[in-house]
Amino acid sequence: MTHAGGKPLINGRLNDPIAPYVRQTLGLVLHEPEVGYLVDGAWTINRSPQTPGVRVKKISFKKFVSFEVKGRKAVQLTTERIEKRFLQPFAGKAVAPPPIWLMRQAGRYLPEYRKTRAEAGSFLDLCYSPKLAAEVTLQPIRRYGFDAAILFSDILVVPDALGQSVRFAEGEGPRLDPIKSVDGLSRLALSNTNDKFSRVCETVERLSQALPRETALIGFCGAPWTVATYMAEGRGSSDQAAAREWAYADPEGFAQLIDILTEASIVYLSKQIDAGANAIQIFDSWAGSLSEDEFARWVIAPTARIVSEIRSRHASIPIIGFPRGAAALLETYIHGTSVDGVSCDTSCPLSIMQKIAQSGKAVQGNLDPLLLVSGGDALDRRTDAICRAMAGLPFVFNLGHGIVPQTSPDNVARLVERVRVNRA
Ligand code: CP3
Repeated sequence: MTHAGGKPLINGRLNDPIAPYVRQTLGLVLHEPEVGYLVDGAWTINRSPQTPGVRVKKISFKKFVSFEVKGRKAVQLTTERIEKRFLQPFAGKAVAPPPIWLMRQAGRYLPEYRKTRAEAGSFLDLCYSPKLAAEVTLQPIRRYGFDAAILFSDILVVPDALGQSVRFAEGEGPRLDPIKSVDGLSRLALSNTNDKFSRVCETVERLSQALPRETALIGFCGAPWTVATYMAEGRGSSDQAAAREWAYADPEGFAQLIDILTEASIVYLSKQIDAGANAIQIFDSWAGSLSEDEFARWVIAPTARIVSEIRSRHASIPIIGFPRGAAALLETYIHGTSVDGVSCDTSCPLSIMQKIAQSGKAVQGNLDPLLLVSGGDALDRRTDAICRAMAGLPFVFNLGHGIVPQTSPDNVARLVERVRVNRA
């Protein structure tokens, strides 16, 4: 993590362009010579903006830049990312109590979700309805005040948008007409994705308006490998074997699928960031099913490409990887992909999480979702143990995997309260 003058930089990077924030806050586009930069925690402007009607009124080296717009009263562009607690660990900073959000925090365990879900019709109708998807994203924020909201959508929106239509049968999970060889790839085209990606991004836009200032918004996609396993299998299974079989039998052909997914993920994540996402998570739920060499080829390489492309377009956005089941390869993953942080599954030892966080990368994790079902003292004890182990380190409290439907909403409230007493 970069430091200047002994002080940590906000989000760890110099030359963080101010223009996207001006656009987001004021709806104005700044041009190159007007772009300012975040340096050592303060915004600076190279020179006064030349955009008609905009004038830099005051530059504070602490908190904000003010703009006067069309002669009307000054508008403050606060360095809002400083205020979102969730983002601080991604600048290498420890926060006490640790920020908390939970994978699948919007979902069937909440009665209000089940109600909106029934209104929407199918699961994908819910994902593609900006109004309803924004509503279910906000439901757990209203109840628990999590430090981050995660866009309500699904990783299988990408194959659906590419042209391999996805269905979610009630209580059965996803169904796709499987693609098991290179011949099936002609069904997919990046040019198909615009309409569906745009609908999801309209949800992001609504959320960036509706969320409390202190709540960060996480956008996401599935990693190419994990999405490919569903595309090849046609459903969720116990081993997602079809993708591995294809990858062994015809690595060049399988690489074409991975390339299509990598390109689509770059477009999709960029659009989410343009629409207002404050951080990005890449879910690689099936990363742990691969041997070391295959992991390098199908997990690390495409993820590294996504990270570097997103960075070149959005220099400061925190990117979080979730290579589930791959604790032994976590450091290789971090090194190989350059993500800013990782989410750790329940089987990842706290000692590994500590080591990663000590190196300055943010770590999220890793309470067992089933402990959140059983609750009671055991839940409190493990929550405390995780918070204690990660105290003083760049850490975000989370589960090791998603909340399951049988979870009591009261246990979630109990967990949030328990995490928030960790003020040391
Ligand atoms: O709150 C959130 O976490 C945001 C929304 C979100 C969903 N899925 C909603 C969802 C996110 C981030 C995902 C990611 C996702 N989807 C992953 C990666 C993380 C993981 O769980 O490993 C994967 C593999 C999928 C694919 C998927 N979606 C499956 C296999 C299933 C069926 C199993 C299940 O849990 O029901 C889904 C459905 C799904 N995605 C639901 C939700 C709330 C439940 C569907 C319903 O309401 O009927």
